Amino acid sequence: MTGLLDGKALAAKMQAELAEQVQHLQQQVGRPPGLAVLMVGDNPASAAYVRNKEQACERVGIASFGKHFPTQTTQAELEQTIQALNQDERVDGILVQLPLPDHLDSVGLLNQIDPNKDADGLHPTNLGRLVRGEPGLRSCTPAGVMRLLQEYRIDLKGKKAVVIGRSILVGKPLALMLLAEDATVTIAHSRSQDLTAIARDADILVAAVGRTNLITAEMVKPDAVVVDVGINRVVNPETGKGRLVGDVEFESVRDVAAWITPVPGGIGPMTVTMLLDNTVWSYRQRCVAGREK
Ligand SMILES: NC(=O)c1ccc[n+]([C@@H]2O[C@H](COP(=O)([O-])OP(=O)(O)OC[C@H]3O[C@@H](n4cnc5c(N)ncnc54)[C@H](OP(=O)(O)O)[C@@H]3O)[C@@H](O)[C@H]2O)c1
Repeated sequence: MTGLLDGKALAAKMQAELAEQVQHLQQQVGRPPGLAVLMVGDNPASAAYVRNKEQACERVGIASFGKHFPTQTTQAELEQTIQALNQDERVDGILVQLPLPDHLDSVGLLNQIDPNKDADGLHPTNLGRLVRGEPGLRSCTPAGVMRLLQEYRIDLKGKKAVVIGRSILVGKPLALMLLAEDATVTIAHSRSQDLTAIARDADILVAAVGRTNLITAEMVKPDAVVVDVGINRVVNPETGKGRLVGDVEFESVRDVAAWITPVPGGIGPMTVTMLLDNTVWSYRQRCVAGREK
């Protein structure tokens, strides 16, 4: 019987715990934790993600300092905003919602964020800390994958983990996190040869690509743990209605795997929750005696 790695349920549990912590801590600190989500332009998917993050902040008692800029905003204007937020004592986390319009340099902007307020864990200082195995803010999606595996006591030590996708946002940091838990890690990408053979060798298989039905049942080792990070919108041609699916062909793979994440309800809610967790962690680090992450 295949087990469901229920990110939605774990996210709800963690958010309730964070809300309690925030309630308690703000009596000590005198203010709630603060998160600023910066969005540029009107990409509807980004707008939905930002709304989702702000609603989650509200649920746990984190104050939102979000700003929405028009598409033609300049790099200089955004840099000035980030500098001001770096100095703002009420703000513990800053996040730039990606992707940005083409005329903007996202890496340049991310580098402007104070590493101690880097809620998305994408600043070179925090990525460096991850490489070195030092405490620090971790990228939310891979951290969410790790937290979900930990919750279900998935044994990683000495296991073969295959991460498909090598982005700086998901694949690379996740590979390092799995390595830190003593998995033997392979990273596959668009140039990898014989993806089926690579995937089929995995005890833990993670798909972080953005391609519907990339992972089929014959690519999965019996009793593997399958984590689907992908988010793809597919439209039903008859009804015209869209729905979200992952990179994994869920119905066939669930017959082979021991554990599997659903889409939606898997890594998506965990990502938002790790953003809240990062913000509360920064708040503690900045305002209360430190807690190791
Ligand atoms: N659940 C969440 O909260 C969450 C958060 C972030 C992202 N996502 C989703 O996760 C997916 C990946 O996101 P991302 O930001 O990492 O995307 P990305 O930057 O586009 O990276 C995609 C990766 O997949 C690889 N790839 C593309 N086609 C492939 C193929 N046919 N076989 C093997 N590898 C292939 C690419 O290889 P190359 O490097 O060779 O091009 C690249 O490394 C997307 O669907 C995104 O929406 C979900």
